[in-house]
Amino acid sequence: MCGIVGFVGDQQAAPVLLEGLRQMEYRGYDSAGVAVRSEAKGLQIRKSKGRLQTLADLTHGGADLEGTLGIGHTRWATHGEPNDINAHPHVSGDGKIALVHNGIIENYLELKEQLTRQGVAFTSETDTEVVAHLLRFHYQECGNMLEAVGRCLRRIEGSYAFGIICSDYPNALIAARKDSPLIIGFGEGENFIASDATAIIRHTRDVAYMNDGEIAVLTAQSVDVFDDELNPLEKAHSRIDWDAASAEKGGFPHFMFKEILEQPEAVHKTISPRIREGRVVLDDIQFTADYVQSLSRIYMVACGSAYHAGVVGKYTWEKLLRRPVEVALASEFRYSEPLVDEHTLVIAISQSGETLDTMAALREAKRLGGRTLAICNAVGSSIAREAGDVLYTWAGPEIAVATSKGYSTQLAALNLVGLYLADLLGTVEKQEYDRMLAELQTLPEKMRTYLVNFEDTKYFASRFFHHDSIFFIGRNLDYAMGLEGSLKLKEISYIHSEAYASGELKHGTISLIEPGTLVVALGTCGALFEKAMSNVVEVKARGATVLAVTTESYRQRMEKIADGVLAVPETHPLLQPSLSIVPLQLFAYYVALQRGCDIDKPRNLAKSVTVE
Ligand code: F6R
Repeated sequence: MCGIVGFVGDQQAAPVLLEGLRQMEYRGYDSAGVAVRSEAKGLQIRKSKGRLQTLADLTHGGADLEGTLGIGHTRWATHGEPNDINAHPHVSGDGKIALVHNGIIENYLELKEQLTRQGVAFTSETDTEVVAHLLRFHYQECGNMLEAVGRCLRRIEGSYAFGIICSDYPNALIAARKDSPLIIGFGEGENFIASDATAIIRHTRDVAYMNDGEIAVLTAQSVDVFDDELNPLEKAHSRIDWDAASAEKGGFPHFMFKEILEQPEAVHKTISPRIREGRVVLDDIQFTADYVQSLSRIYMVACGSAYHAGVVGKYTWEKLLRRPVEVALASEFRYSEPLVDEHTLVIAISQSGETLDTMAALREAKRLGGRTLAICNAVGSSIAREAGDVLYTWAGPEIAVATSKGYSTQLAALNLVGLYLADLLGTVEKQEYDRMLAELQTLPEKMRTYLVNFEDTKYFASRFFHHDSIFFIGRNLDYAMGLEGSLKLKEISYIHSEAYASGELKHGTISLIEPGTLVVALGTCGALFEKAMSNVVEVKARGATVLAVTTESYRQRMEKIADGVLAVPETHPLLQPSLSIVPLQLFAYYVALQRGCDIDKPRNLAKSVTVE
């Protein structure tokens, strides 16, 4: 989704801005632009539709643009098609103010009408341009940019992160945020703003996370932050604990491939500091046994793959806790009058910590009096900061749009919290607790076993990549895996794919199976293996080609009826998803590779979805 970077210092701004935008390319965008101010040339704006390289070519890598103060943007179109005019920055009618914006201005039509009546002419179809003109109106009214920003923000409704420069202020970069992420980066004689730390990590790891309603004024030497009434604020600094290399491809063909291979390490980092002396110890969470006993309901809210992690969580937690656990799509939760009260725990699962729907669900849960816990990867992200408690997954930066290590570490975190709560509730026998905990610690090694030799996955991808419709079937946790396997495949390979609970097949879906249809059948749950086999027989009888995913101990039996088998090591039944997801990710990756797709940046998708 859209990306913002801003720079003020004593080196040429445009190359820094272009480099920052390049680091955020993974987020998905359809146009890009920069605005730079110099004494001699005033505001210089360059923008272009399409890849960032076009903008870089247009400006000779930024060398054409003079000035040491500037803002840059990658746009993911919401209001108005992707073209040069709708691209950011947008400029006020007098050419003095330029701004970039992430988010959506909900009352932009009303403001546009008011401004049009005052004679303002609009050039783009965007909601953002309204703010450039509104800002100019208030600047003319009060003659002070900070005051004008404050007045302007009081009139707009919606979500925003803004980077603003004004030709009357040669050294000042202004930033503001509400419901859309923005960080300040502190350098030596230079300062930055960015919507994503990857944009500035090469320059500084010393940052401050802006909160809703805050406005910041940055010069090369100073950073001043104000609340929405323009009262000065002290901001705490944070240190980004990963380095630039973790956000680089490091010789791998794709970030997604690199991140799939990083899963054992990421899962290990998530789990190992939280297991001490044979117990799950969650220093991050302060739950008491009485509180957990008082819970009548647990919700997991999330979107996309994180929602699929929640589906796994529901199955495992209900077995461990013997309590009702509901998993809800965050985008539905907030409008469904959820049954949340003080006896409800709401778990928000989000890799980026910035997904707007998940954030809105979290706020709704808080409003209704529920207690909230975020399972997040991005440290200091909005969801992490707003939740009552937060448990970080230590996956490191995830760059590929399609999540892999983000998802695996969410499963790891859910397993940890599930065991922790079951222990507090006394709903799991000691022997079972010990067995599961021991297996949890062996997961990284078992993942590695699969990841050192996946020739068969590559082979089946090369055999099946030409299919144009694929079904995933499974029961219970295998159904949950099918959901994620199917999403992985469709988002990066553009093959139509659906996941069904196997038992549902004969209630309608089986009519879609015809000779040659590819069915990916999951049969990793020992207790349900015979049923999985029956479903394979059922679809084979209708002519389907079956690629089965099972465990090593069932491989031979499955090989007798399936057309292909991918077998993963065996673990505790509740942890099996953490292993069975790996071949599904690799299968999706190699199918997409065979089809020549843009794996790290699939069409129409964005890494963190910060609009509703
Ligand atoms: C799919 C994928 C998305 C995200 C979803 C939620 O591969 O990555 O479905 O899982 O957009 O994102 P987060 O976890 O950042 O809230």
